[in-house]
Amino acid sequence: MNLTIALLPGDGIGPEVSAQAVKCLRAVEEIFGHQFKFIEGVVGAKAIDKTGNPLPDSTLKLCKEADAVLFGAIGDPKYDNDPDAKIRPEQGLLKLRKELELFSNIRPVKVFPTLIDKSPLKKKIIRGTDFVIYRELIGGIYFGEKHLSKDGTVASDLCTYSEAEISRIAHMAFKAAKTRRKKVTLVDKANVLESSRLWRKVVSKIGESYPEVALEFLFIDNAAMQLILNPSQFDVILTENMFGDILSDEGSVIGGSIGLLPSASVGESHALFEPIHGSYPQAKDKDIANPIASILSTAMLLDHFKLDEESKAVVIAVLKSMKNDIVTPDLDKNSKYGTNDVGDFISSNIRELDDHPTINRENIWLGKSTII
Ligand code: IPM
Ligand code: MN
Repeated sequence: MNLTIALLPGDGIGPEVSAQAVKCLRAVEEIFGHQFKFIEGVVGAKAIDKTGNPLPDSTLKLCKEADAVLFGAIGDPKYDNDPDAKIRPEQGLLKLRKELELFSNIRPVKVFPTLIDKSPLKKKIIRGTDFVIYRELIGGIYFGEKHLSKDGTVASDLCTYSEAEISRIAHMAFKAAKTRRKKVTLVDKANVLESSRLWRKVVSKIGESYPEVALEFLFIDNAAMQLILNPSQFDVILTENMFGDILSDEGSVIGGSIGLLPSASVGESHALFEPIHGSYPQAKDKDIANPIASILSTAMLLDHFKLDEESKAVVIAVLKSMKNDIVTPDLDKNSKYGTNDVGDFISSNIRELDDHPTINRENIWLGKSTII
């Protein structure tokens, strides 16, 4: 398969981790006989420094023309503590999501058995955790009308959703549930918010056309608690933009490191793949950032193009790095391996997969697997 991939390394640790992801895609390209063409674009704080714009037109054009976007990370501390900054790196990512109409953000959360001791939570609580968050990505409070009074003392952000916006992601969530453990949990705040009540109404109606899928409802405050009390109860979590943002960071704690969680953002005609973690500026250029979230995002990319074997090959190589304790210091504080070493190990293992016939490839698929 020929794929043109827009590569947007972005800020902080973004360039380091996406370089490892590229290494892995290069290995896949070589072993499976594909052709991947990477074209790099600037985004975020780097793009502001260079052009004054966090998403320059040339980058947007590149992403629109590519088959997929591989994204690193975005954000820079110099903007975080400046509430008056008019231009912010994050605006680049938000605009990109909106322009590419990436309405569905898919974030799988699972506990890797070899890393079960790394979690701050008890083993008996987290064992068997395997759920996926379907987060609406281009609506809600993130994109509603914003207002700041003239004297700067009153501010508001509007949370708006239409039936059409809810319905398109709801269908994706139900379809995913059909291939998994057949349960959708809608997370909302329908006891308070009008927009949440619309979500319940629309999703309940859609649920009727998926009779094999059980539909449950949870208020966001309760969901935040349930997620760490009993995470294995969840299969597909469907939710709006901001609740999904918060729940997915919380979910990342379950597995032991936010550096493990990949994501796919998809729409009708475009798709973007990125780790869920941020730019982690404290770790920039120290060769300590965990590249696994970025590497697993390439597995989701391959999956998106129905390259199942290729995707499995990446996941298996990642599992092998965990099993052999070839991990970055976030997972093992005494580790002598850096970002690059882990990327090298995983990419060379993709090349050598055939030497290890003992691994059960059948049950390994990022979004679906229960046994790894
Ligand atoms: C994420 C990030 C972004 C978000 C930021 C960087 C705008 O936290 O992808 O979860 O809030 O969506
Ligand atoms: Mn986030």
